[in-house]
Amino acid sequence: MLPVARKPIVQYVVEELAANGIDQVLFITGRNKTSIENHFDSDPELLRTLNSANKQELLEQLAFEDLKTHFFYTRQRFQRGLGDAVLCGENFAGEEPFVVALGDSILGLHANSQTVARMIKVFEDRRASAVIAVEEVPPEQTMHYGIVQPAEDGEGEAFRIVSLVEKPKPEEAPSNLAIAGRYVFSPLIFDMIRRVQPDHRGEIQLTDAIQLMCEEGKRVLALKLPPGERRYDIGNFASYFETFVEFALADPVHGPCLRAFLERILQKS
Ligand code: G1P
Repeated sequence: MLPVARKPIVQYVVEELAANGIDQVLFITGRNKTSIENHFDSDPELLRTLNSANKQELLEQLAFEDLKTHFFYTRQRFQRGLGDAVLCGENFAGEEPFVVALGDSILGLHANSQTVARMIKVFEDRRASAVIAVEEVPPEQTMHYGIVQPAEDGEGEAFRIVSLVEKPKPEEAPSNLAIAGRYVFSPLIFDMIRRVQPDHRGEIQLTDAIQLMCEEGKRVLALKLPPGERRYDIGNFASYFETFVEFALADPVHGPCLRAFLERILQKS
């Protein structure tokens, strides 16, 4: 529920998914995350109060309540890693392909992104078992991400990948293409997750389950974020601060004042 500029991060992710044609969202959370459920519920009392006080600007902030998305919630009872968290969605997904969107990543400034819709199209057109969004990162940052190894003819918009490794050192990384927090999977992934051994921290890595798919010859494709579309990583303070400032500077109402303020304090320092 950390905010970036005007909205909680999770709201950007939900709005991005809605704009990409996803109308059912299952939140996989942990203990003490009831604030997410409350946030996406409607609040008639608040709406009445804001309406009678004619607070138009604040009412606009609640427009997301009109999204046609259906929300579902479940909990990962123990912190056993991302693979285990995805497994909590098995009954929800059933026999259907599904999207995984990590809550610590926003795609595109103010979440203006059509990447997930493009991934779904690639998944269907190329009858893939998995499509993974990737972005280029500087070589020294590979140890923060899952890194993919493209097939030898791995060129073009969507290309096959032959293996993946979670958080490799730069000298061990097979490329500088990092997994960017969005995936489309066939339900086959659940069996793969069940077969993964926990890592040294006892966590079941989703990346290892996708690696099993590659080893079994399934079609696993990567799709690069389009030029100019960044992934904003909220998972560490440095990039969280940068994201907040960039989104706030782009705010049509408050951005110009913030820019002037920042220029003033930067001149003083
Ligand atoms: C997870 C994934 C990793 C991916 C990253 C993107 O790592 O395991 O492959 O690159 O998200 O944010 P985490 O950030 O949970 O450590």
